[in-house]
Amino acid sequence: MERLDKVLAGTGRWSRREVKELIRQCRVTVDGRPAASPEEKVDPAAAELLVDGETVTWEQYVYIMLNKPAGLLSATEDSRQKTVLDLLPGELRRRGLAPVGRLDKDTEGLLLLTDDGELTHRLLSPKYHVDKVYFARVAGELTEADVAAFAAGITLGDGLVCRPAGLEILSADTCLVTLQEGKFHQVKRMLASRGKPVLHLKRLSMGALQLDDGLLPGQFRRLTGEEIRVLRGNS
Ligand code: URA
Repeated sequence: MERLDKVLAGTGRWSRREVKELIRQCRVTVDGRPAASPEEKVDPAAAELLVDGETVTWEQYVYIMLNKPAGLLSATEDSRQKTVLDLLPGELRRRGLAPVGRLDKDTEGLLLLTDDGELTHRLLSPKYHVDKVYFARVAGELTEADVAAFAAGITLGDGLVCRPAGLEILSADTCLVTLQEGKFHQVKRMLASRGKPVLHLKRLSMGALQLDDGLLPGQFRRLTGEEIRVLRGNS
């Protein structure tokens, strides 16, 4: 059971203060009777909540798939630069969504945004072995020796040891990189350590979740129920 004002404000549609005002003005009903107070306890999954006669749908968590464009930070806020949250409407921004892992400012592609902290942890922790697949275009020519070095586990210049990773050569200068961890600039640093600096990087998938190729850079959509179910099972 949760406080009514918390449940309504949690939808992101109103602030706590606005919710209090709505309740005071008798515009909120709970199971057909006017809400008594903001502190009233309700079961958000079971109660029928109406505001001005309209049903309020309550979701425990929200899951957004974004095709991140280059040029935005994967952060929730920044005093000077635009973040991926700036792409979302206010209703979603107010939910407190956070990106699941970071993509560099110039990296594009799949970014999941959610307020489900447990799923976030499971997708990011190397313990759960969730594959993240990136498409990269590099300067230079990729070779079988690069593939072998990735498979053996690369040690970066600063001594950082990367776990064995997948490198699939698509053409002389393009490849798919599969990682189960996400260290700072990892794909770029791994390829740079092989003398192949990255010119373009895009994340294509995370576990079973594939970037929807109908989403243009900057576009987003909610995950389907099936995607959420598979992602939870997969992670
Ligand atoms: N590896 C990188 O180097 N950059 C990213 O944005 C993601 C993975």
